[in-house]
Amino acid sequence: MDALIIEGPARLKGSVSISGSKNTALPLLFTSLLFDREVTFSNVPRLWDIETTLKLLETMGVTSHWDKEQGEISIMPTVIHKVAPYEWVRRMRAGILALGPLVARYGEAKVSLPGGCAIGARPVNYHLEAMRKMGVSVEVEEGYVKARLKGSLKGAHISFPQVTVTGTENLLILAAVAEGNSVIENAAREPEVVALGELLIRCGARMSGLGTSLIEVQGSTTLRHPEGKIVIPSDRIETGTWISIAAATRSELILQNVEIDQMGSVIRAFESMGVRFHLMAESRALRVEPADHYHPVDIETAPYPGFPTDMQAQLLTALCLAEGKSRVRENIFENRFMHVAELHRMGARITIHENEAIVEGPVTLQGAPIMATDLRASASLVVAGLCAQGRTKISRIYHLDRGYQRLDRKLNQVGAHIERVKEDS
Ligand code: EPZ
Repeated sequence: MDALIIEGPARLKGSVSISGSKNTALPLLFTSLLFDREVTFSNVPRLWDIETTLKLLETMGVTSHWDKEQGEISIMPTVIHKVAPYEWVRRMRAGILALGPLVARYGEAKVSLPGGCAIGARPVNYHLEAMRKMGVSVEVEEGYVKARLKGSLKGAHISFPQVTVTGTENLLILAAVAEGNSVIENAAREPEVVALGELLIRCGARMSGLGTSLIEVQGSTTLRHPEGKIVIPSDRIETGTWISIAAATRSELILQNVEIDQMGSVIRAFESMGVRFHLMAESRALRVEPADHYHPVDIETAPYPGFPTDMQAQLLTALCLAEGKSRVRENIFENRFMHVAELHRMGARITIHENEAIVEGPVTLQGAPIMATDLRASASLVVAGLCAQGRTKISRIYHLDRGYQRLDRKLNQVGAHIERVKEDS
């Protein structure tokens, strides 16, 4: 296993290119299962979760070619086994995204239940209940979801009790090929869902309301092959992570390839701290200007367009520098403060009460040996190591590599001193 050794405090300068969006790439790669000939993608980020997705597809009989230098993937969706095995789904919960495309194209699927992860139980009951309403027989046996279509897939009126991103994605795919119309109420509004809907429309699906919480889909039993390359947009959470890095290290950075219209709630949160932003629209670049003094803030996570839960850990680290008491409420996942115990080791003054973190500052964090527990927690620990006094060693850094394309290498290119080392497992 790898670890990162970070010398702090880091003073960074220069520009950084944001990579393709993990949470857009994953559902789009699984959507290739809908087609019977090669589908190609570009601007695909070089991540472990992409590797896992291709391995999972391979177990189904799907072949793929990944040009990692070019960031291009071509998938030949020759499905033989309509099974997504536990061996791969347990490593990446997004494996549940095989369910919709397999049932939509083949009328059957056997997909391992994802199981929980560090941040929560991560159930998929909303996905299954909605599929049953569309005429799919769904049983859960021996840790697997066994889905089989009885007759034809019927459009339905679906109302999600809670906003679910992958639940909306699975059901959007099924609704696109169902007979008759579907309505999805309390649909996720995330840009990743919009990107999936736009791909389905490109293939002939008819829907309205993408990006709102009410999506109406006019079913159509067949979808055309998308033709041409499917371009993955840049990652809004990586962008937000770099904003945390710039704020915490008080470094002025220019972020390239930013999807600026997706950054509203994150920019507002850091602006209220005192960070300043300048958009250079012609080059889709965002200049981030730190401040000498940061104000405390009161923030809560919410489904898009609210403040993203995937940015909560990174914000918490930056708030250690704010002068006063900040409050951050985590409303999406039940156990998403694993990074706090590690930040305590560095001197952070954070107390947790139920789903609320109180951060007192300003605190000068001290370098220390710490451990990554999940993807976004590991990002918050990198932010901490960069602004701490002294050396920080972060172990189990595979969590970071699941969702960030060599963040350490990108950081060293703008002046950080980070070494990646092997450590005994
Ligand atoms: C997606 O996960 C993202 N993953 C997550 O990003 C992100 O944190 C999450 O959405 C919330 O924005 C991908 O897109 C691949 P949910 P997802 O279904 O779809 C509950 C990252 O760091 N729920 O929107 O699995 C659930 O427990 C990852 O990149 C049910 O109870 O999340 C949670 O409390 C982490 N039953 C809430 O809803 C269900 O059937 C939101 O979950 C489904 C969800």
